Amino acid sequence: MAPLKGLILSGGKGTRLRPITHTSAKQLIPVANRPVLFYGVQAMADAGIEEVGIIIAPETGPEIQAVAGDGSQFGVRITYITQDEPAGLAHAVLTAEPFLGDAPFVMYLGDNLLQGGIQELVAAFRANAPDALILLTPVDDPEHYGVAELQDGRVVSLAEKPPAPRTNLALVGVYMFTAGIHDAARAIEPSSRGELEITDAIQHLVDSGRRVEPHVVRGWWKDTGRLADMLEANRLILDVIEKRVDGELTDSQVDGRVVVEPGATLLRATVRGPAIIGAGTHLEDCYVGPYSAIGENCVVERAEIEHSILLAGAEVRGLDGRMESSLLGRNVKIGRSGRQPRAYRFMVGDSSEIEIL
Ligand code: TTP
Repeated sequence: MAPLKGLILSGGKGTRLRPITHTSAKQLIPVANRPVLFYGVQAMADAGIEEVGIIIAPETGPEIQAVAGDGSQFGVRITYITQDEPAGLAHAVLTAEPFLGDAPFVMYLGDNLLQGGIQELVAAFRANAPDALILLTPVDDPEHYGVAELQDGRVVSLAEKPPAPRTNLALVGVYMFTAGIHDAARAIEPSSRGELEITDAIQHLVDSGRRVEPHVVRGWWKDTGRLADMLEANRLILDVIEKRVDGELTDSQVDGRVVVEPGATLLRATVRGPAIIGAGTHLEDCYVGPYSAIGENCVVERAEIEHSILLAGAEVRGLDGRMESSLLGRNVKIGRSGRQPRAYRFMVGDSSEIEIL
């Protein structure tokens, strides 16, 4: 078999994660202080894939290129492929055809996280040599996913977000294809939401007698497209970090699995893990509780934070109540002013959401 290539989809609109995605790619939102996208690239590298194509959108592509670079930090070679508009996952495959050529490939949605990586999947693909292999996992709300129906160990039908799902087996955002997927993607029409759906392309493979096999995921899988999922992914990754304290602690306490990066300073602070405190961040007279990921160069003073993600440069000061289940974008500042008259004063971007006590 020709060497496997990797294709990571990192374009899209990210509407469900506005306002963060007004200014940045959702695939760069950090999970345990690493961009979500990096987990996918790492999974490819760990599976021995050397050539990785990353689909990018014109708006957010340059930022992704700047962060992921040529791939040498992962031990892979990255080729960037611009998709002019987010016209669907099958459209992304067609856009990548010049890069993919005849090679079989793993396609990985850039905002997804798969515990345990893709090595097992790649081994199954090599062993059975199907035309396509799709990852599935049982879910409670299949109507929100692509759903597959199986018969005798084969996939017989797929439906995208069906109102009345026939099974509870949802498509996980990782797929393996042979080059036959290109013709299938060319043969289909856009769906009612105007996208070339990968489920339709795979259905086309099934209908033309190609062998599409299922692979049920063990372990967890997370699509981080919404805030709650992002926080959940952060929780799952933090749950397995190893304690490491490289910052400077003064009259402070860290309990459990906590990473304090070099250059972070803690003064009269308590951090209860699992949690990560980024380089150059300052914590003072505060409590940072479980499942918090505080990015680089943040400040938390006289405040309590739990189950939250702070991007680089965010500052939180003088909160009366505990902040939880929150996502703060880069350089966001939340504080208390002594000014009269006493009032809430906001300057927030489009689609921001604020809940107060
Ligand atoms: P989605 O999360 O389904 O779509 P989206 O990014 O547009 O987000 P939203 O629904 O909140 O508006 O996309 C899954 C992944 O695939 C994500 O990493 C973006 C990427 N993608 C592309 O690269 N090209 C595309 O045409 C589409 C639809 C998605």
